[in-house]
Amino acid sequence: MAVQVLVLRGDGIGPEVTDRALAVFEAVAASGGIEIETSEGLIGGCAIEETGTALPDESFELAKRSDAILMGSVGGPQWDHLPILERPERGLLRLRRDLDLFANLRPAKIYGDLVEASTLKREVVEGADLMVIRELTGGIYFGEPRGISGADGARIGQNTMVYREDEIERIVKTGFDIAGKRRRRLCSVDKANVLEVSVLWREVATRLAPQFPDIELEHLYVDNASMQLIRAPKQFDTIVTGNMFGDILSDVAAMLTGSIGMLPSASVGERYALYEPVHGSAPDIAGQDIANPLAAILSVGMMFRYSFDRGDLDDRIADAVIDVLSRARTVDIVSEGKRQVGCREMGDLVLEQLAGQDPPQPIPTRA
Ligand code: IPM
Ligand code: MG
Repeated sequence: MAVQVLVLRGDGIGPEVTDRALAVFEAVAASGGIEIETSEGLIGGCAIEETGTALPDESFELAKRSDAILMGSVGGPQWDHLPILERPERGLLRLRRDLDLFANLRPAKIYGDLVEASTLKREVVEGADLMVIRELTGGIYFGEPRGISGADGARIGQNTMVYREDEIERIVKTGFDIAGKRRRRLCSVDKANVLEVSVLWREVATRLAPQFPDIELEHLYVDNASMQLIRAPKQFDTIVTGNMFGDILSDVAAMLTGSIGMLPSASVGERYALYEPVHGSAPDIAGQDIANPLAAILSVGMMFRYSFDRGDLDDRIADAVIDVLSRARTVDIVSEGKRQVGCREMGDLVLEQLAGQDPPQPIPTRA
């Protein structure tokens, strides 16, 4: 039976990088024997323009019928004047929350010789390979009360950082599970020296630890964690943290790799999953064919791994990306001796590289 994938291109560079990713998706699915059916929906600013809302019901209904969602990015300066709850970003946030995509996986690793593209010294970043797991449906992003109230001159802006124990438990368990498939080290990041919500977070993580005896758990305050990520990123394997801290730390982790244009992500819950590049809509470079499509392409790899249980196809995509990077670069990661290419050509090179690879081995069928 065909797998159903909803494509939400979004705004800014979203459409161009998603198109490259989609081409890779189709090619790799065909070679891997996965039958796919894709549908398309609107999200973000383009959805506001056409329908008046950042997540039209039609897109949400399509999302609920999908096995996986491939998203580009949302937002742009032309919508910055809108109230917070009506902005393009709200479409994405609603999708995350209403599909209960509570676990956001953001792997940051250095691909091949991309190490020279990092702003940090080679010896600091070479070999770094970490995964930020960010809670995505709670915390200060969604806590109530929120809003701006009061009269002019004496107004109050308010948000609430709140986590229920069960919300902490499920994301920390995800952290332990994923650490178990990696190098078995989990770093839980909080601000337990100041915030009660973090005291509870730390307590829950500590209570769960004995259920995962082969995983080493440590706790760091978020300020220290940010510093350590820049100082010595190789000390990290898996990081688990709340929504806001994860938003910030994953951008920091992204830059270790040279460019935020390289970072894919998966947002998963019990039933649904959404894959998107970590970078935003980059309106300043949209439509110029210079965006880096690799984060979107690597997000397709994550889709094969996490939604369709085909880690082999994720590996194929990553291998192709590494090969292409040894020859060609988009402008964000260009360096001496490498040919500079645009978004479309980068996508084509990955496709060519994939076509030249040995075909994937057939998956043994279980009797
Ligand atoms: C991200 C982005 C989003 C977030 C925005 C676009 C709402 O920064 O995915 O990291 O803050 O979660
Ligand atoms: Mg962010």
